[in-house]
Parts: sequence; structure tokens; C-alpha cells
Amino acid sequence: MQRATVILMATLLGSLIVLSSAGNFYQDVDVTWGDGRGKILNNGQLLTLSLDKFSGSGFQSKKEYLFGKIDMKLKLVPGNSAGTVTTYYLSSQGSTHDEIDFEFLGNLSGDPYILHTNVFAQGKGNREQQFYLWFDPTKDFHTYSILWNPRQIIFSVDGTPIRVFRNMESAGVAFPNKQPMRVYASLWNADDWATRGGLVKTDWSQAPFVASYANFNANACVWSSGGSSSCSGNSPSTAWMNQDLDAAGQKRLAWVQKNYMIYNYCTDVKRFPQGLPPECTRP
Ligand SMILES: *[C@@H]1O[C@H](CO)[C@@H](O)[C@H](O)[C@H]1NC(C)=O
Repeated sequence: MQRATVILMATLLGSLIVLSSAGNFYQDVDVTWGDGRGKILNNGQLLTLSLDKFSGSGFQSKKEYLFGKIDMKLKLVPGNSAGTVTTYYLSSQGSTHDEIDFEFLGNLSGDPYILHTNVFAQGKGNREQQFYLWFDPTKDFHTYSILWNPRQIIFSVDGTPIRVFRNMESAGVAFPNKQPMRVYASLWNADDWATRGGLVKTDWSQAPFVASYANFNANACVWSSGGSSSCSGNSPSTAWMNQDLDAAGQKRLAWVQKNYMIYNYCTDVKRFPQGLPPECTRP
């Protein structure tokens, strides 16, 4: 073999080890609960979770990550989904865990879903922001992404940023940057709070409820059990490591926050009588 070919192969192999990438659910996840209600279909291209009176279901990534750009397509429970919650999130383990959440709160037919987001750092959450979506999330698959790098966390929907949580360790705010996280997803019954604060209950005559997942893609630094993260900072495929919102992204973010944001902990002065959290008041 020519030397150049060997080098090229080594480089390709290297990046395969470094980056865990695109999408086969058989290889990437384990269905962890639900007793058969979570199903991998279409040769690993599709995963469905279902919920009935007896149980919901869920899955988790086989790998743990420390920073990454994680994409997933979801198609939410159609029709009357009131009382149900569909999730897709990153979480570490333990009592001082980190977590980055997308949760979709179901609603009666014809009423909008609420996309609920939160960020936990070292066990502390209470950073909810909620949004309506600008499309019907039950009709088609849409891409929900978490860009997580040492500078910030950017939540996006179909490439449009909806929320940014910056690293403000310099202002004494913990940031998730030390604990590896796994990707989790679930569909479960939360009719004690999910829809209008628990007023609207799950209608079990509509069961089973089904949500679908596709195109899981983790362009991420994979954590190994030895306690190290493999991820090269310089290759173009890890450009997300330094990614920031560009001017167009800032504009899209402002558009979403102006038109679709329905709750923001950062403006909830009643909730924080001692003063808003520091990450809310710094520019
Ligand atoms: C459900 O729809 C109603 C009516 O549009 C809305 O007020 C409510 O916030 C929606 N979402 C939830 C989770 O209740």
C-alpha cells in the first residue's frame, strides 16, 4: 500500500474513533425500560416509544459524551396527547448531576404542544424556558439539537436557535463541563402536571400513545470509562467545539424569543424575590 493511502486510512480511522456519528439505533442506544413498548424498526433507522395505562418507555445512548453536537429527529404523539410528556435530554449521574433538557408537553387535539427546556449544573436546575413551536410537531419529523461546548449550550429546532445558556463560571454560575452525559429519551404519563398544570388528564381511551425518533447523530467527544475524553480540537469536524451564534443566528434567536417564548425564568421576578439568578442579569 502506498504511504499516502496508509496515512489517509489512519486519519479516517482516527476520526471514527474520536467521533461517534450517525445513526443506527441498534448500534447507538439501548431501550432501557417499557417492557417491549420501545421498538427499533426499519433496520435501526427508526425508534418508537409507546405509552399505555401500564407503562411508558425509554432508551439511552450506549456512549457517554463530554461536549458535542447532538441531533435527533422527533415526531410527537398526534391527536389528543394531553397528560403525556415526550423527552430527549442529556444527563450525567448522581446527586450533583448536569442535565440539558428538551421536554414536550402534550395537549388536547388542536391545542399546541409546549416545548419545555431546562439546564441543570451540579444538581441545580430551576432554569426553565418554554416555547410554542412554529409548526405542528406531530405531522412530520423535526430536528432538535443540543450544541454543548465549553463556552455555551445552544438549543436549536430545525437549525433555528431557541435558547442559549452561556458559560458564566466567571460570575460564579456552575456550567456543565466536568461530568460526561448520556442521551436519554422517554415517553411517560405526567398528567399530574404536564397539561395546564395537571387540570387536563390523560385520556387512556386514546392509548397507546406513540412518539417516533430518527436520525440520532452525535458529533461528540466520547467519554471512556478510564476517565478520558477522546476528541480532537482541530479537525474541521469538531468546529462545533468553538461554535458561537453568528449574526444570523442571533437574529433567529431573537425572533423565536419574541414570538414563541411563553415562559422565561429569567424574567420571573415573583419567583426570585431575592433577585434574579446571576446568569440572567449579566449581559
Ligand atoms: C395547551 O393549549 C392551551 C390552549 O391553547 C394552552 O393555553 C396551553 O398552554 C397548552 N399547553 C399545555 C401544556 O397546557
